[in-house]
Amino acid sequence: MTEQPVVRRVRTRHFARAKAAGHKITALTAYDAPAARIFDQAGIDLLLVGDSAANVVLGYETTLPITTDELITMSRAVARAVERAFVVADLPFGSYETSDEQALSTAVRFMKEADVHAVKLEGGERVESQITRITASGIPVLAHIGYTPQSEHGLGGHVIQGRGDAEAQLLADARAVERAGAFAVVLEMVPADAAARVTEALSIPTISVGAGPHCDGQLVVWTDAFGYGEGRTPKFVRRYADLAGVLRGAVEQYADDIRSGAFPSEAESYDNAPPAE
Ligand code: KIV
Repeated sequence: MTEQPVVRRVRTRHFARAKAAGHKITALTAYDAPAARIFDQAGIDLLLVGDSAANVVLGYETTLPITTDELITMSRAVARAVERAFVVADLPFGSYETSDEQALSTAVRFMKEADVHAVKLEGGERVESQITRITASGIPVLAHIGYTPQSEHGLGGHVIQGRGDAEAQLLADARAVERAGAFAVVLEMVPADAAARVTEALSIPTISVGAGPHCDGQLVVWTDAFGYGEGRTPKFVRRYADLAGVLRGAVEQYADDIRSGAFPSEAESYDNAPPAE
């Protein structure tokens, strides 16, 4: 394997080169400027403004209720904060299924109003024509197959996809999005060996969300990986930190200091002296 090249601004061609060179692609979700800036400075290649914001930021049960306007606001904050990372915005449920024209006009809104670098939409063969239409207009598309959270009710909950005979459909979906011009494809919650075969079969990179180690890159919801989220952490997520615990402890200390009078101190207060010239 060759050494990872230094890249000042990540572009779609860098993902294709990473696959060819066997370099792993690093990706995280991001929903606001401060977190995006930290992830960018840490060298994460791709930031996804995922509709998982519905769950982890807005407190909904599923990703379905989040709107295009809400995701555009978050995407704009993320895009403004980064210097190097490639920023992808999720097209929310209901914003691309009706027609190719609807898909393109939503994608155009994200490119113009949020200044992101690409969009993501869920589905394989069923959205091939939408992806074709968007990429034909010069907008890069990250595809998303396997478990697709916007179809949670249709799929019967959080169910692993592509097992056994279903691997044939997974491969057909992967080939459809590649044919449509997607620059990469997310494989979510599929068995590691099926993901390995899809990765081998495709010329575009695969990015795993719980699809094992053989994909060309890895992506997780950042609040899950760094302990800022609530609720159950999926099996495929490794916890790298307990940010909620750190924050809770600091907030308790802050409240104790107010109650005891320890905060604010004199040094943290203004005196009545005239300002220095
Ligand atoms: O919305 C999201 O965060 C996603 C990833 C989990 C792929 O779609």
